[in-house]
Amino acid sequence: MSGHLRAGSATRRRFLMTAASATATTALGTIALPSFSRSSQRPVITHGVQSGDVSTDTGMVWARTDRPARMLIEASTGDSFKDVCHASYVDALPETDFTAKALLENLPAGQDIFYRLRFQDLLSGQAVSEPAVGQLRTAPADRRSISFVWSGDTAGQGWGIDPARGGMRTYATMLRNRPDFFVHCGDSIYADCTIPAQQKMPNGETWRNVVTEEKSTVATTLAGYRGNYKYNLLDANLREFNANVPIFAEPGRVYRKISYGPLLDLFMLDMRSYRGPNKAPRKIQYGPDAYLLGPAQLAWFKRELKRSTAIWKVIASGTPLGTIAASSPDAGTTAGRGVEIAELLAFMQHAGIRNTVWITADLHYTAAHFFDPNKAIFQDFEPFWEFVSGPIHAGTWTPCALDRTFGPTVVFQSAASREQGDNLAPCFGLQFFGYIAIDGVTGTLTVRLKDVADRVLWSTSIEPKI
Ligand SMILES: [Fe+2]
Repeated sequence: MSGHLRAGSATRRRFLMTAASATATTALGTIALPSFSRSSQRPVITHGVQSGDVSTDTGMVWARTDRPARMLIEASTGDSFKDVCHASYVDALPETDFTAKALLENLPAGQDIFYRLRFQDLLSGQAVSEPAVGQLRTAPADRRSISFVWSGDTAGQGWGIDPARGGMRTYATMLRNRPDFFVHCGDSIYADCTIPAQQKMPNGETWRNVVTEEKSTVATTLAGYRGNYKYNLLDANLREFNANVPIFAEPGRVYRKISYGPLLDLFMLDMRSYRGPNKAPRKIQYGPDAYLLGPAQLAWFKRELKRSTAIWKVIASGTPLGTIAASSPDAGTTAGRGVEIAELLAFMQHAGIRNTVWITADLHYTAAHFFDPNKAIFQDFEPFWEFVSGPIHAGTWTPCALDRTFGPTVVFQSAASREQGDNLAPCFGLQFFGYIAIDGVTGTLTVRLKDVADRVLWSTSIEPKI
């Protein structure tokens, strides 16, 4: 998602909006549209609409069109759009491949918000696209029950959209859970994987993909990279999900905290941009080679944990803790990339940071890991849970061995069997997502590990410690 321009900035042009609707904050009332062109020359919304990064009073919305055009944005608490609480515009230009982002501001907290997007041709000034409507829910300011889903790994290992097999079905299943938002924990695209026309499966059946030019080769250009997102957005399940559920995507280079009301602070960690090569994992000394979060992110995270007043602190990471410590079982101390995690866990223990839960993807199977200091090599921490989900739509792996440093126990896991082997196709039912609900009255956090058929494979409820 690139190309965010604040509404009303930079590219103000000659036509269209009333004075009031040109800024994000003042507009009320429907955008006055010029007469609709009925010709085939109207701009088209090419890849659906989506939203993300919602807060108590804001939400980002996104769409792409097929030419230089102005995205006209309206938001309302009702799908009739009778009372418009936000109206603005932003231009979609070639530099951003005709994508446009806009921040909806001054929204009411804890509300279902409908947004309606149209594109107006910047050259003719007349032709306006069909509208597309999406929906998001803002974070609550009060203590009401909330829920969200998380997963990772979309369209990997050559498993793309097979229409005969229903496309990326896990997105449709996640939508049926009607979560407040979705956390994509990593691998939202696979720029390093191609999507071939077909893949033979070990059982003799053939998987047949929708194909595109851009996904026929590994991405090495910006256009190729964008082509990966375009490919995924060909899937109707994914587009429907995007239009209805705001997404917090893997942070890329920006670690951040999302305040989601009094019950939840969500921390998105970046374990890719700052990590060292970890060439000598048994080295005890901490230095750039062993960076995982890096000193700046680690300091930020500690500070924000200490400042957090939310009951639950959910930490979304790109990599499971049991696989990153990279010390040998007999090392007797923490080494390699585990140094920062050890420091972090000890900090939480001493600073009295309670009610933390880790969620992640990356393993291409689902699991519940309980970390217990009594079983650990490094013991200076409170016991905690890590929940693993994914893939949404990619190859399923067999279970991997966990590092003992922080004493993980595999309480539950569902993965490809040894007979099925690694990179099991998505059509065998082992595609996963996690669902978390936090009760507004009791504060109880319930985790359900689910599969593409929406079966609850495993569940637990955790009472908050006050
Ligand atoms: Fe992956």
